Amino acid sequence: MKPAEPLILSIESSCDDSGAAVLRGRRVLSNVVYSQTVHEAYGGVVPELASRAHLQTLVPTVRAALAQAGVAFGELDAVAATEGPGLLGSLLVGHGTAKALAQSLDLPFIGVHHIQAHVLAHSLMEPGVQERPLEGFPFLALVVSGGHTQLFDVRGPFDFRLLGGTLDDAVGEAFDKAAKMFGLPYPGGPEVDRRAEFGNPQRFALARMQTPGLDFSYSGLKTSILYALQKEQKLRPETLTEDLNDWCASARLALVQPLLDRLDRALQPEHRYAVLAGGVAANRLLRREFEAWGLRRELPVGIPPLSYATDNAAMIGAVAYYAFAEGRFSGMDRAASARLEVPSLHG
Ligand code: KG4
Ligand code: ZN
Repeated sequence: MKPAEPLILSIESSCDDSGAAVLRGRRVLSNVVYSQTVHEAYGGVVPELASRAHLQTLVPTVRAALAQAGVAFGELDAVAATEGPGLLGSLLVGHGTAKALAQSLDLPFIGVHHIQAHVLAHSLMEPGVQERPLEGFPFLALVVSGGHTQLFDVRGPFDFRLLGGTLDDAVGEAFDKAAKMFGLPYPGGPEVDRRAEFGNPQRFALARMQTPGLDFSYSGLKTSILYALQKEQKLRPETLTEDLNDWCASARLALVQPLLDRLDRALQPEHRYAVLAGGVAANRLLRREFEAWGLRRELPVGIPPLSYATDNAAMIGAVAYYAFAEGRFSGMDRAASARLEVPSLHG
C-alpha cells in the first residue's frame, strides 16, 4: 500500500544550475545542485555551453539526489521538471530527461513554472533548513533574481496575480552591472552586498526610481550610477580604489529601496504574510529591511534559506506537490518554453 504523501523526483535546469531533488509531500529528502563553472571566464552565462554541461551533469545529479534520499526509481510516484521560463537549450535537457524517466517508469509527469516554484519554495519543510514554513493563501510575494523582478498577489498555488514587474532590467542584473562598473568580477551582486556592509550609503547621491505604480525600471538607475561614477572620477580618478565600499553601499541602497517601497504599497489587509524569493533574497540589506518592514506592519515574513532562494530543484518539487494533490498532470506532448506565463485564473 502506498503512503498518502507522494514521493516525487524533481529536476531544474532553466539556467546554469543542474538540480535534482526528492520530496515526500512537502518534506525535502534531498536537494542536490551542481553549479556550472564553465561560464566564469566569459563574464556571463553562455547558453550553448550551459545546455551541453546539463547533458553531462544532469543524470549524475539525479542519481545523487535519489541516493541521498535513499529512494529507488521504482518507489517514485511522479517526475517533475521546470518547463520555463529560462534558456531553451537548458530547459530542454531537464524537461526531456524528466519526461523520458516518467515514460519509462510509467509515472505521471508534471511540467513546472520556474517563478511559481521560486514563490512556493517557502512552503517546503526540511530539518535544519526550514522547519516551520508559512502556510495558507493569499500572500504577497516578491521575486528578485538575475532574470526577474516581480510582485505577486498569490491567491492559491495556481492562482498568481501579477501586481508589478520590471519594464527593463531585473534587480539582480542591475546589481551585476553595477558590480561590473566598479570593476568586480561576474556575478558581482554578492560582492557589492558584502562590501556595502562596510560603506556609507549616503556618500554618493543617486537618482531615485521614477516608475509609477508597482512596476520597476532598473535601466535608469543603472545609468545614474554610471554618470555619478564618471563625474566623481573626473574630480578624483582614484575614487573606485579609495571609496569602493561607499560606491557599493550607495548603489545597494538605490537598488533595494524601490523593492521595499512597492512591497509596502502592494500589501492588502487580506495578505496573511509576505515572502521573498530568488537569488537576490540573499542580499543583506534587503533581508534586514524586509524583516523590519514585517515588524512595522505586524505581518509574518518569510525569507527562504539560500538553498531554496537560488535556483534549485526542491522548489520545483513544491509546485509538483500541489499539482499532484490536484491531479494536474502534464501530457507527454508538453514542450519546454523559454517564455512562459505564470499560471493564473484571473489574468
Ligand atoms: O535566482 P538566482 O540564483 O538566478 C537567477 O537569476 O535565476 O539569482 C542570481 C542573481 C545574480 O544576479 C546575483 O548577482 C544576485 O542574484 N545575487 C545578489 C546577491 N546574491 C546573489 N545580489 C545582491 N546581493 C546579494 N547578496
Ligand atoms: Zn531562478
